[in-house]
Amino acid sequence: MTHHESHDNHDWYERSGVRSGPHRTVAGPLDPAARFFPHHLVPYWDHPLVRALPERRRQELLARHLYHYLNFTAHFETRVVNRATERIADGRTGLDLPAQVRLDAYRIYCDEGYHALFSLDVVEQIAAGTGIPPLPYAFDPFLRQLDGIGAELLAGEPVLAQLLQVVVFETLVTSVLDEVPKDRDVLPVVREIVRDHARDEGHHHVYFSRFFERLWHDLPTSLQRRAARCLPELIVSSLSPDLRPVGAALTVAGLGPDAVRDVIADSYRSPASTAALRTSARHSVRLFRDAGVLELPGAAEAFGAAGLLADVRGGAPQERPRRQSGA
Ligand SMILES: [Fe+2]
Ligand SMILES: [Fe+2]
Repeated sequence: MTHHESHDNHDWYERSGVRSGPHRTVAGPLDPAARFFPHHLVPYWDHPLVRALPERRRQELLARHLYHYLNFTAHFETRVVNRATERIADGRTGLDLPAQVRLDAYRIYCDEGYHALFSLDVVEQIAAGTGIPPLPYAFDPFLRQLDGIGAELLAGEPVLAQLLQVVVFETLVTSVLDEVPKDRDVLPVVREIVRDHARDEGHHHVYFSRFFERLWHDLPTSLQRRAARCLPELIVSSLSPDLRPVGAALTVAGLGPDAVRDVIADSYRSPASTAALRTSARHSVRLFRDAGVLELPGAAEAFGAAGLLADVRGGAPQERPRRQSGA
């Protein structure tokens, strides 16, 4: 294995998933009772109304939770991450970027396209292997919500809003990327693609942290102030689960409208999800803090109101009600 300086990405040709990773496939026949996703990462899994469902319906729910995660990932990569990454690569950000920064953006563009490909590929493999079909999936409601934040808080600056979206998302460390590869109970093909994905994302994290420093120092103070208020909203929105597909899957599993509403209300508004939000966002928040974002007027208040500033490792962090902005 060759070692390069961390700012040199020529090893991308050897280390990236799209260049050198194997095609991950379901090995052999697929048990519909397989652990498609870690149970503890499915917020409604232990809800009494979900526990009471017939075993086959529970298997379908778990498979569809995975499908939803993978479909979301495929869309997010191409429609959010690559929308901004393409601008950086093409030189359409308004920033004066060195060629190396643009070349790396094209490399990331390839990575994200590949992540979308293997995500949909595994949905199709598992659907074929189990006979559990995916439900129709629509990303547009989530995207409208996410883009709505920039349209409101950074009106007139759509490119900046897109660049901040990608910086935020690429510096988050979601519990799925972190935990699924380590979970030996989970179906191997799922662990493998999440591990492959996490490996590429580690490099993206470094790239977008540096990109943010360039972007930030180039912004006039008036725009920095507006951006500082926008960032916590973008974090919360990026991490807020889209509850529409959850509701659809619970409905197909046999729950009536009242039961679906109860399960979602009980499962997605707990203090645990606020703590998980802070944990996933800790690197992003540190990046912004180090760049001086929190020193701007109103910024610390905005991050605090979004629940992003309590001490993650504290014994009993004070919990705030979770904003349901991504639903
Ligand atoms: Fe990715
Ligand atoms: Fe990425």
